[in-house]
Amino acid sequence: MSKVRIGILGSRFQADCIAGAVKAMPEEGEVVAVASPTKAHAASFAKRHGIPRAYTDYRELLRDPEVEMISITAPNRLHAQLTIDAAKAGKHVVCEKPLCLTIEEADAMIDACRKAGVLLLYAEELFFAPKYVKAKQLADEGAFGRVHLVKQGEKHSGPHSEWFWDVEQSGGGAVMDLGCHGIAFCWWFLGKPKIKSVYSQMATQVHQARTQGDDEAVTLIEFATGAIGLIESSWNRPGGMDDCIEVFGDKGQTYADLLMGNALPTYSEVGFGYAVEKAATTRGWTYPVFEEHWNYGFPQEMRHFARCVRGKETPISDGETGRVVQEVLYAAYASAGLGRKIMLPFCPKGIQKPIDLWKTPERAQAAL
Ligand SMILES: NC(=O)c1ccc[n+]([C@@H]2O[C@H](COP(=O)([O-])OP(=O)(O)OC[C@H]3O[C@@H](n4cnc5c(N)ncnc54)[C@H](O)[C@@H]3O)[C@@H](O)[C@H]2O)c1
Repeated sequence: MSKVRIGILGSRFQADCIAGAVKAMPEEGEVVAVASPTKAHAASFAKRHGIPRAYTDYRELLRDPEVEMISITAPNRLHAQLTIDAAKAGKHVVCEKPLCLTIEEADAMIDACRKAGVLLLYAEELFFAPKYVKAKQLADEGAFGRVHLVKQGEKHSGPHSEWFWDVEQSGGGAVMDLGCHGIAFCWWFLGKPKIKSVYSQMATQVHQARTQGDDEAVTLIEFATGAIGLIESSWNRPGGMDDCIEVFGDKGQTYADLLMGNALPTYSEVGFGYAVEKAATTRGWTYPVFEEHWNYGFPQEMRHFARCVRGKETPISDGETGRVVQEVLYAAYASAGLGRKIMLPFCPKGIQKPIDLWKTPERAQAAL
C-alpha cells in the first residue's frame, strides 16, 4: 500500500522532530504539506525538509485533498480546535502531548474523531523509545518479578518558546509539559492498570519572574494493583535534558538513562557547533547524544501511526490514552492545591486549565 501522506501543523521545535522522524521511515509515510501562521517560517521549514506545499492557515492544509493524516505540533491550547477541525475534514490526527487543556476538550476530540471515522493518535514517544521498550519487555517477561515501583523523571532548564511559560496557553508548568510523559510512561509500563489515586507536591522554585506555572514537582500515582509510579518533573536543571527511568520488582530492577546514557561524555574548552538539547553551552563537560530521534522513538512512533492508518497495526496510544493522562494532570494539580491525595475518577467540570486546580484549590475542593 502507498505511503501515508502527512501534513504538519506548526513549523518549529517539534515540527522539525516529526519531519525528521518521517524521513527516517520513508517506506511508510511522507510529509506533503506544512501549515504555520508565519509565512517565512512555513516556507523555510518546507524548503529545509523538501516539503512540496506550505500554508499559513491550517484550514487550507485541511482542505488539501492529498493530506491523509496531520501531526499537530502547535501550542497546547490549540490542540482541541485543530483536532476537531481536522476530523471534520476527514483527516487522521496525531496530536502531540499533552492532548489538550481540559477533560471536556479531550472528550470532544475523541468524539469528533469517532464520528468522522478517523484515528486520534496520541504522540507519546516514550512508548517507542528502544531502551524503555526493552525494559518493558524484560518486565513483561517477569525478569523483575512483580514490579511495584516505576520511576520516570524528565528535567531540563526550561522550555525554549515563550508560550510554555504562559499558563493560559500551556495549561500549566513542568507537570503539564514534562509530567505528562511520566504519567503516560508509568501507566503504560505497568500494563495500563486502573489508577486509584494521585498525590503531587509542586512549587515555582526558580522561575517566579517568568511564569505562574510550576517549575518543580514530584507526583505519585497509586495503581489499583498496588504498584506506585513516581514522576519527577523539573524546569530547573541546567546542563542539558535528562530523561531517566528506574524499575523495581521483588525479583529484580533496571535503570535507563535515555539521553546522557546514550551520549558521548565530552569535554571541550572551545565548544562545538552541534546543539546539545537544553544545554546553554558546549564548553566544559557536555553530553552530545547520538541518534537522538531514534533513541527517543520518534521514527518508530510515526511508523506505527502510519501503519495504524493503513490498518496494519492497532494504536497503542490514542485519544483515550491522552484522556487518562489528562485526568491525572487534573488530579495532580488539585492534589498540590489541597495538600492531599486525590482519588480517581476525578473529572471536575468547567475548569479552564489544569493549573487552576492548584491556584484556586476551592475549585478542586468543590469537585471532590
Ligand atoms: N513529544 C515531545 O517530546 C515534545 C517535545 C516538544 C514539544 N512537544 C509538544 O509539541 C507542541 C509544540 O511544541 P514546540 O516545542 O514545537 O513549540 P514551538 O513554539 O517550538 O512551535 C510551535 C509552532 O506552532 C505554530 N503555530 C501556532 N499557531 C498555529 C496554528 N494556528 N496553526 C499551525 N501552527 C501554529 C507556531 O508558529 C510554531 O511553529 C506542544 O504541544 C508541545 O508540548 C512535544
